[in-house]
Amino acid sequence: MCGIIGIASNRPVSTNIINSLKKLEYRGYDSAGIATITDGYINEKKCSGRVDELQKILLKTPSNGNIGIGHVRWATHGIPSIVNAHPHSSDAVSVVHNGIIENSDEIKKNLETKNFKFKSQTDTEVITLLITEALNDSKPLEAVFKTLKKLKGSFALGIIFKNYENIIIGARRGSPLAVGYSNDENFLGSDSYALKSMTNKISYLDDGELCVLTKDNVEFFNQNKKKINKKIHLVSEDLNTSEKGNFKNFMSKEISEQPITAKKCVSEYVDKIKKDINIYNFPIKPSEINKIVLIGCGTAYHSCLVAKYWFEEITSIEAEIDVASEFRYRNLKLNEKNLYVFLSQSGETADTSAALDICKKNKVKTCAIVNVVESTIARNADWVLPIHAGPEIGVASTKAFLGQLIVLFILCLKLSFMRKDINKEFYNSKIDDLTKLPDEINKCLKSETNIQLMAKEFLDANGSMFLGRGFSYPIALEGALKLKELSYLHAEGYPAGEMKHGPLALIEDGLPVVVIAPKDKYFEKTLSNMQEVIARGGKIFFFTDNKKKSISENIRFGLRVPFLDNLFSPILLTVPLQLLAYHVALLKNCDIDKPRNLAKSVTVE
Ligand code: G6P
Repeated sequence: MCGIIGIASNRPVSTNIINSLKKLEYRGYDSAGIATITDGYINEKKCSGRVDELQKILLKTPSNGNIGIGHVRWATHGIPSIVNAHPHSSDAVSVVHNGIIENSDEIKKNLETKNFKFKSQTDTEVITLLITEALNDSKPLEAVFKTLKKLKGSFALGIIFKNYENIIIGARRGSPLAVGYSNDENFLGSDSYALKSMTNKISYLDDGELCVLTKDNVEFFNQNKKKINKKIHLVSEDLNTSEKGNFKNFMSKEISEQPITAKKCVSEYVDKIKKDINIYNFPIKPSEINKIVLIGCGTAYHSCLVAKYWFEEITSIEAEIDVASEFRYRNLKLNEKNLYVFLSQSGETADTSAALDICKKNKVKTCAIVNVVESTIARNADWVLPIHAGPEIGVASTKAFLGQLIVLFILCLKLSFMRKDINKEFYNSKIDDLTKLPDEINKCLKSETNIQLMAKEFLDANGSMFLGRGFSYPIALEGALKLKELSYLHAEGYPAGEMKHGPLALIEDGLPVVVIAPKDKYFEKTLSNMQEVIARGGKIFFFTDNKKKSISENIRFGLRVPFLDNLFSPILLTVPLQLLAYHVALLKNCDIDKPRNLAKSVTVE
């Protein structure tokens, strides 16, 4: 959700803070702000809306100062506005915060009885005023420790002090925070992505930890105030994937990168020569796994759903799926013979991370399938399978989803073979298919011109439906999710067989209905469901890999993707659905990389 940057330097920092905030904008874009210490005062500048607005303000009235913090906000407490934008400053201290302070009302009431005045409706301002109060009789580090003790909830904080103008304090509980190192500058950031343009040396704070940065030193403390050492990671700066180049936006770039993502991912795991999959060190012996439980949020949850169908199809292992925000609060019967698999592009999603923590506490075995290998979820899991998709900046996940599917398929195939559920011939043939996958994905991208025509048909619609059965049901959900998040057009994903149990009532003349019907055991059944929709006036957009010529004359628009194998249809059919959502949003002039109200990394519940 929100993004934090802090820089302690021997030269003015505001330009670099603004540049970093632009990189962090994918995490929150309701409002932005910066505070520096200028001539012994806290110089705070804020705007509602985008970082560009903040930059304009700074062009008119520059902020000097060699130390500063900046923030992009995704509103939780209080509407997006200048007054609610971070930093929140008093005369003594300025604070940027990611997360939610759950007991802020209680603290606020208490501070008001002591005559502290609040300017905003945010939960963050209580942190500013608690530190201000503590500074009356404490030095900054002690004041922050005292304050943290009073806070319930989650946070990553960046704090600067009027009277201690060479330090930034950072603290983490629940929301990610990283520190970057350079020769005469040190940095604080809510993720390494924003820091990568300034340094490749990064440390990650763990929960309960705190750091004190000056321009030439960084110290870390644990929650018992004991000094600790942190590992410095050398991260690679992948400029290709961090810039959008000639593309209109990151999403179109990320969609078009998918053949490369697939190639990279397959080559990391598949040994073409030996015809084998390089996955080792299973936390539970494959033959002894009782059940696979797959957990994620949003698009990552949809990849869990596809995987459930794969596990059921080619392994003898039972597969269960769960939305992380539900999993974490249920009365679960966790079993040490089960493998709990967590899907998360960012590796920082609060609900997924909390669900993983529950598994850890109960000492059951966990696996993380993530894109960001330095992330909290990756660091906390027993076993990590990276998807190797490179940074994904567009809020709506595309190439990371595809990567998740490929890793899940590879895991499923390997387990199936190790448990002797499939024979060597089947195993080899699927390995061959995997190596063909990047080219087939590339062919799917060629459907773009056709999709552009289809997209026009959605412009005047009041809603839309996406239907599929079997492997295509999760893809229908994902197609609908992509369309609603990008174009704000209502879209409902449904198992086609469920239509007559309610959703058929929504079908009216001209309603766009996307039917996903690959050549599999459900094909004819899906066609029957489609006829029921046609009979009620639905406008059909038919997505298939079936080469059969005449399917139905009532299909308004048809699109064929290559056929590789039934098992791969969810991967290949995803691509045109992404393109459809993209082009509808483009025609509607929506902000494709930053859809309203959404954030890339959901680090609050
Ligand atoms: C947000 C993003 C989605 C993503 C979901 C889970 O809602 O907008 O694109 O699928 O979070 O994120 P994760 O990083 O855990 O995959």
